[in-house]
Amino acid sequence: MSSISDINDWCKICNTKDLVDHFSDWSSGDHEVDEFIRSTQRKATSKFNFLEWIPNECLKDVKEIGRGGFGKFYSAIWIDGPRSRWVSEKKEWERYGGVKVALKCLLGDKPNKELFDEIIPHLEIGKNILGRNNILQIFGITENLSTPGQYMIVMALGDNGDLYSYIKIHFASLDYQKKIEILFDIITGILQIHKAKFVHRDLHSRNILCQQFIKLSEGRNDSRFVVGDLGLAQRIIDTSDYLFEMAEYCAPEVLAKRKFSEASDIYSFGIIMWELVVGIRPFSYLSNRYMLVAAIIQGLTPPIDELKTKVHFPPAYKMLMEQCWNRDPEKRPTAQVIYETIGVWLQNLMFTREKSIAQEFVEADEKRLLKIPENIVITEKISAKKQLGDIDEGDDSSKLDFSSSIDYYTSRGISVILEQMK
Ligand SMILES: Nc1ncnc2c1ncn2[C@@H]1O[C@H](COP(=O)(O)OP(=O)(O)O)[C@@H](O)[C@H]1O
Ligand SMILES: [Mg+2]
Repeated sequence: MSSISDINDWCKICNTKDLVDHFSDWSSGDHEVDEFIRSTQRKATSKFNFLEWIPNECLKDVKEIGRGGFGKFYSAIWIDGPRSRWVSEKKEWERYGGVKVALKCLLGDKPNKELFDEIIPHLEIGKNILGRNNILQIFGITENLSTPGQYMIVMALGDNGDLYSYIKIHFASLDYQKKIEILFDIITGILQIHKAKFVHRDLHSRNILCQQFIKLSEGRNDSRFVVGDLGLAQRIIDTSDYLFEMAEYCAPEVLAKRKFSEASDIYSFGIIMWELVVGIRPFSYLSNRYMLVAAIIQGLTPPIDELKTKVHFPPAYKMLMEQCWNRDPEKRPTAQVIYETIGVWLQNLMFTREKSIAQEFVEADEKRLLKIPENIVITEKISAKKQLGDIDEGDDSSKLDFSSSIDYYTSRGISVILEQMK
C-alpha cells in the first residue's frame, strides 16, 4: 500500500480505487441514494468518513426503539459490523462483527434530501478528526423493510440512551468528576463541529447520546458521550415550532432573531451545565412556551445562588456557566477556551487532587444531596420574579423582531408572565 496514513489506516489511492471498483457490486435500488453513497466514497479521506450501502440481509433483530420529531428509530445488529482495519494482502476490510447499531428513518416531504442533509455534517466533521471523535458515527444507509423505497441512516447506537435519561437514572452517582467528564466529551464534540465550520443549532440533553464501552485498563464498563442529531446543522428549515419546543436551551438572540452562531451553541452548552448539576431542565414552571420564549428574551436565566441550600455550584463551574449565558454572544467563551478550561479541571480531578480547583469540586460533592432536590421549581419561580421584576416592561419586547404569533404575547409585557408565575 502506498502513502498510507498510519492514524487513518487509509491510502487515498488504493482505498478509493477499491471502493470505485466495487461500485457495480451493490445498489440501493434508488439512483439518488446510490450516487450519494458513491460521492462519499470518492471523497473519503479516512476509513471513518464514507458511507456504505448496508443491505437488509446484513441486519438482524431490528426493533423499534422510539420516535423523534423527524422520524422513527430502530435498533439492530449489523452482522458484518464497521470497518476496523484494511488488510492490503487480501484487499479487504477486517471488521468488528455483530455490532449493535441504530437505524433512523426520516418521514418528511423529501426524505432523501433530509437523509443526506443529516449525514453530510457527520462526514464533513469526521474529515478533520484523527483521534478521539465525539460526534455520533454514521456507517451507511439501508432500506426500511416495512416501507420499501424508504431509506434509513445506519449509525452507532447510544446503548445507554440520551443524556436526559442518563441524568434521571444516574443522578445519585453523578459526582463532579463524572459531570466534568461528560462536559469534556460534549465540548470536544462541539469543538469538532465548530472547527468544521458548522453550527449545531439544536444542542440539548436529548441530542447527546451515551455509549457504553469496556475500559480495558480497569476491566470495567464506562460510558462516553457523543453529540448527535446534526440535522439542523445543514438543513435550514423554518425552525419556529422547533425552537419553541427546545426554548430552554436557546440563546435569547436565537429566540428573538433566529441568530444562530457558534456562540448560540455555547449558550446551550451552559444550560446543559446547569441541568447536570440540578438534575432537571430549567424553567419547567413555565409551561406556556410563548411565555418561556418571552422571558428568556427578557433576560431570564436559570437560578444559581438561590439554589444554594439545595445544590452546590463550585465557583469556577458557576463562572464558566454564567459566561456561556452572557447576553452578549461576543462575550461568551469559544468552544476552544471551554475545552481547555474543562480539560484542566479534569486533569486536576484525576491526577492532582490537592490543587485548589479540585478541592472546590470535592467540597461541592460532600455537600451535595443524592437525589434531585425538592422545591427546585418554587425556588426557580422566586428567582425569575427577582430577575424579571427589574426589567422595564415596554423596553426590549417592543423592539424585538418577532414572528407575528410571538408578538401578541410579548407585547402584553412581562407583568403577564409574572402574573402566570404566581
Ligand atoms: N444513535 C442512537 N442511539 C440510541 N438512541 C438514539 C440514537 N439517536 C437518537 N436516539 C434517540 O432518539 C431520540 C430522537 O433522535 P434524534 O436523532 O434527536 O431525532 P430528532 O431529529 O427527531 O430529534 C433522541 O433524543 C434519542 O433519545
Ligand atoms: Mg433530536
